[in-house]
Amino acid sequence: MRFIIWFGALLPIVYALIRFSVEIQPEWIRESFIFIEQFVPFTLTKFPTDPLKFSTDLSGDSAFWLLALTLTFTPVRVFLKLNLIRYRRLAGLFSFFYALMHALLFIGIDQEFNVHGVIHEAVTKPFIAFGMGAFIIMLTMALTSTKKLFGLFHSWHKMVYIAAVLIVVHYLMSHKTVTWDNLSMAGVLIFLLVLRLIKR
Ligand code: HEM
Repeated sequence: MRFIIWFGALLPIVYALIRFSVEIQPEWIRESFIFIEQFVPFTLTKFPTDPLKFSTDLSGDSAFWLLALTLTFTPVRVFLKLNLIRYRRLAGLFSFFYALMHALLFIGIDQEFNVHGVIHEAVTKPFIAFGMGAFIIMLTMALTSTKKLFGLFHSWHKMVYIAAVLIVVHYLMSHKTVTWDNLSMAGVLIFLLVLRLIKR
């Protein structure tokens, strides 16, 4: 199981490396990707047209799905009586890792570490403020997720549900027009939150 989480969580990085190295790939690798593209809905043979947007979206989506995975372990234990809780921290830390990359791409590259620029964006675009709120919660959870500190900060980790709500809002508001695809992706997190309420 640990291997599956590592493997799945590292796939977005492999995908990004493939896309960014497309210009220097040997012919046989490019041929292989052209072959694979017939079967999977991924573009493997084109350099991203907007590399910053590509990286921000990829890291945001990866953080999102890994958070969804993290929230799945409790309902799986409650409803399916399958205890995989020991892998929850690993999935959560990977989710935080991608959230950190996502935030750094925006703050470091998009805003060039300009504090005023970041504050201005957060004030004028509420979806950025919601993302930051979720990120701060995830940061505190990652810092207190060690065996020693988790005992002390156990109740604080329930804040993950607030973070999930903030991320749903952040995700939906980041799109000018919300499509069924966006709604179904947000629906996954909402469904996991509802399962949590049923458990109570
Ligand atoms: C400091 C905190 C954050 C900032 C500044 C931020 C910034 C952004 C920006 C600027 C976009 C729009 C990118 C575009 O133009 O397409 C975006 C989209 C997104 N963000 Fe964040 N974000 C933050 C936190 C988070 C967190 C914590 C998550 C999830 C755990 C997240 C998940 C997403 C997702 C899924 C998208 C949509 C990506 C897509 O359309 O494919 N963000 N974020």
